[in-house]
Amino acid sequence: MELIQEIRRLKAERGAVIVAHNYQIDEVQDIADHVGDSFYLSKICAGSDASTIVFCGVRFMAESAKILSPEKTVLLPEAHAGCPMADSITPEDVRRLKAEHPGAAVVCYINSSVEVKAECDICCTSSNAVRIVRSLKENEVVFVPDQNLGSYVAKQVPEKRFTLFNGCCATHARVTLNELHSARALYPDAPVAVHPECSPEIVNAADFAGSTSEIIDFCRKSDAKRIIIGTEMGILHKLKRDNPEKDFYLLTPRLICTNMKLTSLQSVYRALAENRTQVEVEESIRLRARTCLERMLQA
Ligand code: 13P
Ligand code: SF4
Repeated sequence: MELIQEIRRLKAERGAVIVAHNYQIDEVQDIADHVGDSFYLSKICAGSDASTIVFCGVRFMAESAKILSPEKTVLLPEAHAGCPMADSITPEDVRRLKAEHPGAAVVCYINSSVEVKAECDICCTSSNAVRIVRSLKENEVVFVPDQNLGSYVAKQVPEKRFTLFNGCCATHARVTLNELHSARALYPDAPVAVHPECSPEIVNAADFAGSTSEIIDFCRKSDAKRIIIGTEMGILHKLKRDNPEKDFYLLTPRLICTNMKLTSLQSVYRALAENRTQVEVEESIRLRARTCLERMLQA
C-alpha cells in the first residue's frame, strides 16, 4: 500500500502519466492511468501533455511513444522487457525485401524496432492492420515481422498480393489445435476469442480474432456465460473485472509472455524515483520511423 502511495506521490510530483498494456500484471494495470492495446496506448501517448510517460509494457511500445513525443521523458521500468518477435527482424532484412519487391508497400506491425520502422512505409497494430492494408494504393504488400498477423490480413484482403516475413510470437504460437478442440469439448457453449498472432489454424478454428482491446470488447458484448480466450493471460484481469457474471478459460496455461511480466510495482516506483530506464532514439532514425507511425495514426 505504501508503495502504491509513493508511486502516486512521485507521479504527481513529476507530472507523469503511467500507461500499461493489457498483458501487464494485475497490480501494474491497477496503478496505471491508461490500460489498453498497442494502438490505444500509442494514441494516448501521442496526445498526452504529461512531461514523463512511464510505459509498462515492452521496449517497442515505449520506443513508439518516444518516436511520437521526443520532447517527453519516456521511461521503460524494466530495461530488458523486449519482444522476441520484434527482435526477429533487422533493418537489413527489410532492405532486402524491398529490393526483391520494388513497388510493394512495406507494412510493419508495431511490434518492431525503431530501426525497422524507419525502413517501412506504414505501421499497423493488430486492431487496424486490415483497415491499413486495405487503404493502400499498392496491390503488392510486404508484411513484417509477424507471419501469423500477415496471413490473417492476407485472408481478409484477397485482392492484394502478400510477401510475409517469417517472424512470430512464441507465446501465441504455443496454442495447439488439440488444446482448442479440448476446450470446445469441455465448454461447448463457449465462443473462442483469439489474438491474430496465433497460428492461422487456430484463428480459423476460433469464433473471433482481434487485438487485446477488441477481445475485451467482444467479451463485454457477448451474451455467452463463458468464453474461451486465446491470448496472453494478463488480459483476464480486465475481463473478470468488467464481466463478473461471466467465466473465462485460457486455451492453455502456457499463454504467458515473460517479457510482459517483468514489470512490477517496485520497478514502476524505481522508474519514477530514479528516472529509469530512459528510452532514447537516434534523431535521424526517429524522423523516418515517425513518418511510418504517423501514417498509421492518420489513416
Ligand atoms: P495488442 O495490440 O493487441 O495489444 O497486442 C500487442 C501484442 O504484443 C500482442 O502480443
Ligand atoms: Fe511480443 Fe508475443 Fe510478448 Fe506480444 S506476447 S510482447 S508479441 S512476445
